[in-house]
Amino acid sequence: MTTELKQQTVVVSTIDEMRKISESFRGQTLGLVPTMGYLHEGHLSLVKQSLEKCDHTVVSIFVNPRQFGPKEDLDIYPQDLSGDLEKLESLSVDVVFNPDRQTIYPEGFKTHVQVDEITRNLCGKSRPQFFKGVATVVLKLFNIVRPQYAFFGEKDWQQLAVIETMTRDLNMDVEIHRVPLMREPDGLAMSSRNSNLSPEERKQALSLSRSLKDSKEKIQQGIISSKELRQNIRNIISAEPGTQIDYISICDPVSLEEKEIIKGRTLIALAVKIGPARLIDNCIIED
Ligand code: PAF
Repeated sequence: MTTELKQQTVVVSTIDEMRKISESFRGQTLGLVPTMGYLHEGHLSLVKQSLEKCDHTVVSIFVNPRQFGPKEDLDIYPQDLSGDLEKLESLSVDVVFNPDRQTIYPEGFKTHVQVDEITRNLCGKSRPQFFKGVATVVLKLFNIVRPQYAFFGEKDWQQLAVIETMTRDLNMDVEIHRVPLMREPDGLAMSSRNSNLSPEERKQALSLSRSLKDSKEKIQQGIISSKELRQNIRNIISAEPGTQIDYISICDPVSLEEKEIIKGRTLIALAVKIGPARLIDNCIIED
């Protein structure tokens, strides 16, 4: 009989400790899964991909204040470090990097990364600080952990595009892996923010995935006008009383430029405020 020994997960909070561990992995492949914690199955699917692909996996847990606007939900962003560690230990993740704010943004911190053009539309319009905050912290995490591979979910489609652009433009030696969006059995896109929804708001939130599914059906029936499809999505979501649409974008999945008609591969992306949460969802219409 063989007994599988579970590898112990190490939790580190300083840059020095993290660097020493990364250094000890030299010559082997290292994958990084950056997260803000409150891990769900969507995050765990990123972790599993990293565990499969790489010799070692680091998961970072850091709620990055610089990607939240002054009126956004930083103060109520859900956190459960012990629950997260339990999940990551059960998967035998090598290292959890859990720095505090002072470690990532010490006194006198002045530098930011700005990715142009693709940050103008969609989430960039109503969250002007968001991608600057994301790109900056992801670059810092890459520099601290020094992974060869990093894993991000396609639920945050625009974030992925920004990170891919940044790594390409700045010649960074990290290969970005895209992992498909994961849904709850009833269709709701998995998100840590779902935990801030009341039961009633959670029901209303199903209108996002419902509207995307309906759009796919309409496109299959031959409707290709973005204006018409957008209006249809608006009708489905607005029929739920607590919803406030931020944007409905029908765009090119790479440039994120809006399209007037569905032609070629197309991204339909939504952001909707429901109660305390701003939820996003998307789907791809294949060519
Ligand atoms: O997607 C997230 O959880 C965050 O935006 C990220 C990539 C961890 C950066 O803070």
